[in-house]
Amino acid sequence: MTDHDALMPERRRMSRRRFIGEVGMVGAGVAAGGALAACGSALTTGASAAEDAAIAAQVVPFHGRRQAGIITPVQERLVFATFDVITAERSALQATLQTWTRAAAAMTQGELLPGGVIDPLGPMQDTGEALGLTPGSLTLTIGFGPSLFDSRFGLAARKPARLEPLPALPLEELDPTYVGGDISIQACSDDPQIAFHAVRNLARLATGVMSLRWMEFGFGKTSKTSAAQATPRNLMGFKDGTRNLASSQTQLLDRFVWVGPESDQAWLRGGSYQVVRRMRMFIEAWDEDFLEDQQRVFGRYKLSGAPLTGVIEMDTPDFKATQNGDHVIPENAHIRLLSPEQNGGMHILRRGFSFSDGVDSQAGTLFAGLFFIAYMQDPNQFLTLARKMAGDALGEYVRVVGSALFAVPSGVAPGESWGESLFA
Ligand code: HEM
Repeated sequence: MTDHDALMPERRRMSRRRFIGEVGMVGAGVAAGGALAACGSALTTGASAAEDAAIAAQVVPFHGRRQAGIITPVQERLVFATFDVITAERSALQATLQTWTRAAAAMTQGELLPGGVIDPLGPMQDTGEALGLTPGSLTLTIGFGPSLFDSRFGLAARKPARLEPLPALPLEELDPTYVGGDISIQACSDDPQIAFHAVRNLARLATGVMSLRWMEFGFGKTSKTSAAQATPRNLMGFKDGTRNLASSQTQLLDRFVWVGPESDQAWLRGGSYQVVRRMRMFIEAWDEDFLEDQQRVFGRYKLSGAPLTGVIEMDTPDFKATQNGDHVIPENAHIRLLSPEQNGGMHILRRGFSFSDGVDSQAGTLFAGLFFIAYMQDPNQFLTLARKMAGDALGEYVRVVGSALFAVPSGVAPGESWGESLFA
């Protein structure tokens, strides 16, 4: 326990919504310069039962058999970050993962970071920009990249055989700034400030042990993971996620998303593999393309999302249907090439977001696209599909400008830490 904990034990499970009411009560003391612990008696300040219920509905459980943020209904916003471990000390890495786990458990429940205190003579434990905000359905999902298993931390024997850096693939023009990383954190929330606050604070807690390698912000989901969610649209204006796996399809998830006994590494069982691809769209060229051609690129109607062989969005594509001797869903249509029907019944779970990094200042065009994230039992599932994209009509309009692969361990129980089974 730190000195700060001792000063204010009740702060360790303090809702950041209610904290605001307390600050009002103790603010005068802070201004006067005392090292103040906000008093626990103010816990009920300003919160009604209705507000409590609304807030509770925005909490995604942190502990569990699986990590949250994979089949959790996709939130509206993403902050994705990768980190490099900069310490040579295995124990320092382990300690940081323990600190991260406690912080993640608190932040996802809408609480202040553990150990917080109002002390004018020290930095606040929690950076503060999420004060007053709800839990925001925040999920934090951790992954371990192939480079973590080099000689530095004695983890080489724990490297899953399938966790190899992705090979060169079609449509790649990779910017090395956006490749790889020892550790990934996927922060999803319905509020961008909550997701940013979480990654910022994890980065801060890792000072001297890990440094940020690259980061991307996603502002609109491009898939759904629950039948209850409406299908969102990507920046090309098409519904995206229509036939994505849903959390209710447990048998398909067991078969294609969750790592099982087939893995050579016990610590990874119950987890998944996370493939990340930063995909730039040539939006200006796309916007000039005529509607019928756009629809043939995907094999779906733009407005309804229905396959070109159907009427409503959820109609099953008929890949055999022909008209005047040609397939109605063209040979090079994105959904034909990547559909389970054309790939031995194989599925992946997509969980991408739209992104924009402003302008390509050389070309004077938008720099935007789809930040593709997908979860699967075996990275070879992704490789099969990615190689098919060599013949994809979509290839005229997109380039892969960032890439990474991570092994995502199973969830943790209360008292356990991220990475505990990896280091055991
Ligand atoms: C900028 C890049 C991409 C865009 C704009 C895009 C867009 C779309 C759209 C609009 C659909 C149809 C709706 C749906 O069923 O979800 C779709 C389906 C799909 N996409 Fe992509 N996609 C992109 C990249 C990728 C990549 C990199 C992969 C994997 C390698 C992938 C795999 C799939 C799969 C598996 C489907 C479902 C096919 C089916 O079941 O019919 N996509 N995508």
